[in-house]
Amino acid sequence: MCGIVGAVAQRNIVPVLIEGLRRLEYRGYDSCGVAVLAGGEPHRARSVARVADLDEQVRETHLEGFTGIAHTRWATHGAPVTNNAHPIFSRNALALVHNGIIENYESLRDMLRGKGYEFVSQTDTEVIAHLIHSLYRGDLFAAVREAVQQLHGAYAIAVEHKDQPDTVVGARQGSPLVVGLGEGENFLASDALALAGSTEHFIFLEEGDVCELTLERVRVADRDGNDVEREVRTVAAYGGAVELGPYRHFMQKEIFEQPRAIGDTIPQADSFDASLFGDAAATAFGEIDNLLILACGTSYYSGLTAKYWLESIAKIPTQVEIASEYRYRDSVPNPKSLVVVISQSGETADTLAALKHAQSLGHKHTLSICNVGTSAMVRLTELSFLTHAGREIGVASTKAFTTQLVALFVLAATLGKLRGHVDASLEAQYVRQLRHLPAALNSVLALEPQIIAWSEDFSRKENALFLGRGLHYPIALEGALKLKEISYIHAEAYPAGELKHGPLALVTEAMPVVTVAPNDTLLEKLKSNMQEVRARGGELYVFADSDTRIVSEEGLHVIRMPEHYGLLSPILHVVPLQLLAYHTACSRGTDVDKPRNLAKSVTVE
Ligand code: F6R
Repeated sequence: MCGIVGAVAQRNIVPVLIEGLRRLEYRGYDSCGVAVLAGGEPHRARSVARVADLDEQVRETHLEGFTGIAHTRWATHGAPVTNNAHPIFSRNALALVHNGIIENYESLRDMLRGKGYEFVSQTDTEVIAHLIHSLYRGDLFAAVREAVQQLHGAYAIAVEHKDQPDTVVGARQGSPLVVGLGEGENFLASDALALAGSTEHFIFLEEGDVCELTLERVRVADRDGNDVEREVRTVAAYGGAVELGPYRHFMQKEIFEQPRAIGDTIPQADSFDASLFGDAAATAFGEIDNLLILACGTSYYSGLTAKYWLESIAKIPTQVEIASEYRYRDSVPNPKSLVVVISQSGETADTLAALKHAQSLGHKHTLSICNVGTSAMVRLTELSFLTHAGREIGVASTKAFTTQLVALFVLAATLGKLRGHVDASLEAQYVRQLRHLPAALNSVLALEPQIIAWSEDFSRKENALFLGRGLHYPIALEGALKLKEISYIHAEAYPAGELKHGPLALVTEAMPVVTVAPNDTLLEKLKSNMQEVRARGGELYVFADSDTRIVSEEGLHVIRMPEHYGLLSPILHVVPLQLLAYHTACSRGTDVDKPRNLAKSVTVE
């Protein structure tokens, strides 16, 4: 999704801006650009190809300057063409980049047209550029503060004006923006990661903040226009490029990192204590009688899996809702709810908005399960539990998902213990099972050659069904999502018992049916559902626990999972589905790490 980098320095800043864009590339974008102030006016280069192409352009044209802003754009308003790429200019005096969506852009555009401004792009961003230009009276900071009062929607912006050659101004509302502090130079970015290598000192701007960067000074005003001091945080963890190593794609690397990521996420202590979730957790957990989980996409599926754990281990009623639905629904708030938001990035616009909506309804206790400790979500919640997946580059989430599952299992066990449903011997058993997970995962990863053989068949299909039951229904959903998002094969998942209520009509010899078959209490029911598929000629591809006695025969292909893993089985069963999607996509030759139309960290609604 869109990325911003900006800088004020006493050296040519273009290489820093381009490097920042490179670091944000993995998030997905369809055009990019950079603008510097030089010789009393803004100059820019834009490209609808990759950042490498932009780099070539700036080298060829010798685009250089001490003050600059840069952007990767993921199109919302207007096609991904050069004219719509940022930076957007206003009257050749001001340059601006923007992440987010301005909802009242049409009325602002009419108003600005009335003032003689000409619009040359289809973007909503152009209204911000002209609006700030129209309010500029020699003080960019003041003009931006005045302009943002008139914007409805979400934005993070960076602006520069030809009459203030050593200044970049930024503002945020609903989209992230951080200030990077240097020695005699200062930076701005939508993600601290973009500034790794330039600084380790950051100010994470708050909602409504406007900031002014000059060579020696950073000034921040809050939404009411009062100058404020924001905490400076030192974050060293962003340094260093992420290497691909022996893998073909980051997704493959991240699938194989799961034993390490899970090992790092499992708490060190041999007991489940509320303090794992923060100092206030013991009190908060004592005051709740239900959970409301809010998330999007893959993170939503980890929430769905957790519902089974929370209700069976902790006996606590749990509701799981897609964040983009919850935020606009008239719901009935319950002050005794623990609102749990789950997110890899901690910046997903819909999940953040749902969290704020829940808080505005009076929900006091909130918990984030997140992979980024400095994210807005972690800062906004009362409690947090950080997953230690490490940086996830592939757009399709893999290690973020399995580490979320670990965190949620720990939550269920902790609440179960507090509520008297997990005694010392059960606690010790859960700890043992968690500790053994990395080794168990390694055995599952060793199935890769068998999965590659299946992926050859899958790559020639255009549709697939995924079946699971109980705890493994969300895993079937996740398997179908992985397959569709990176191989572009249409895939749908159903709880197997639901097949006869409609989707069975789709089953023919041409329909592969992937089945998640752990040896649990629903196994016999699942076997009957598989018979229903076979009777209609459907081809079954089954991931079966070794002790299920499901054996390969005509139309029934079986890969045996090395271990039966009880309640934690979803964490193992999802891995072959990730590998199946990955290798099928490779056979089809798609851009696995950057699938079409998708972005990592969805910071617009
Ligand atoms: C799918 C995928 C997405 C994300 C979703 C939420 O592979 O990665 O569905 O899970 O966009 O993102 P986060 O977890 O960052 O809130």
